[in-house]
Amino acid sequence: MVENPARLLLGPGPSPVDPRVTQAMSTPVIGHMDPMFVSDLGNTSELLRHVFGTKNRATFAVSGTGFSGMETALVNVIEPGDTVIVGVSGFFGVKAEELCRRLGAETIVVSNGFGLPVETIDIRSALEDSGDVKAVFLVSAETSVGLRQPLQDIAEVVHEFDSLLISDMVTLLGGAVVKVDEWEVDIAYSGSQKCIGTPPGSAPITFSPRAVEAIEQRKSPVPSWYLNALEISAYWAGELPYHHTCSSTVMYGLKKALELIKDEGLNNRAQRHEIHGAALRSGVEAMGLSVASLEGRRLGMLTPINIPEGIDDKDVRSALLEEYNTEIGGGLGDWAGKVWRIGLMGYGSTPANVLHILNALEHLLSERGHKCERGSATAAATQSLS
Ligand SMILES: Cc1ncc(COP(=O)(O)O)c(C=O)c1O
Repeated sequence: MVENPARLLLGPGPSPVDPRVTQAMSTPVIGHMDPMFVSDLGNTSELLRHVFGTKNRATFAVSGTGFSGMETALVNVIEPGDTVIVGVSGFFGVKAEELCRRLGAETIVVSNGFGLPVETIDIRSALEDSGDVKAVFLVSAETSVGLRQPLQDIAEVVHEFDSLLISDMVTLLGGAVVKVDEWEVDIAYSGSQKCIGTPPGSAPITFSPRAVEAIEQRKSPVPSWYLNALEISAYWAGELPYHHTCSSTVMYGLKKALELIKDEGLNNRAQRHEIHGAALRSGVEAMGLSVASLEGRRLGMLTPINIPEGIDDKDVRSALLEEYNTEIGGGLGDWAGKVWRIGLMGYGSTPANVLHILNALEHLLSERGHKCERGSATAAATQSLS
């Protein structure tokens, strides 16, 4: 058996896990119907409300990865024949669009191109042109292009048209201050393995009372048993003894990670991600590389970098694994082969990791003929950090 070399995870997720989370996950397995575990699920819901910035009763975590959150969000409210507007700025918006089509929805795509945000005016004009719209879907932090998609103004317009706002927060949650209630987002979901900082395996999700009402008023039953939001929510609230064999290992990891987020403070945590993202960008530019994401809409937790001419994407990523035991991400969708994606997420968002990845890239790129002054990237990042 090949030994796992404990990679340094500086890609788009999974991110490094705090040893206190790993320790919480090594407590003995207990039953999914044990009153002690069910009570802990209730405490975890409360912690999730804190990070989501919501009082929504229906707040829990799906047993699955980020896409199980996406499926839960969509499969519970979308019925065949419904009209849905999907904002597409990158790969994950495209996935949501595909899923809406599979659910039989009349799916209208609003896009200004890969890497570009959807503006309030775009959503307003799509709503004006589309009759009754069940929901508008937007990715709040599009991981494929490192783009922040503001939601608050759009939510106002969406509600003016009596539609629901659904948002993917897989990359955002735990790395930014999220205000689901204040922004008036009806359904938001995430994945545990990015800024929340646990291994993959749980997908936090929250439903507003308006979203719950939409589920209750469906004409047809929710077509998924496993992802039935109201049933999972009832199980988490201790009102339904069994829905599925929920893993105590996974959920104790999530609970510990959420406690650590609360202890750090949401503002501090958001600031930490912003500061380290900014330092990384200064170093990248000092090295003569360019950041691919749109200025003014960049994410602290995920930075896409344009791969310089003449440099082979996979060769550099393999060398990072072999020589530095470090993982970064490649591009997805339209940006496949064109960018590297560096994640500084959760426990991995540290000054040491910023300097480490800049130093490693500087070394590997200069070996491959890219002209840059050795030490310039780390010097620029250090200055940005000070
Ligand atoms: C924005 C976004 N949505 C959805 C997903 C899917 O999550 P998972 O791979 O955990 O299923 C990802 C994963 O990177 C993501 O970044």
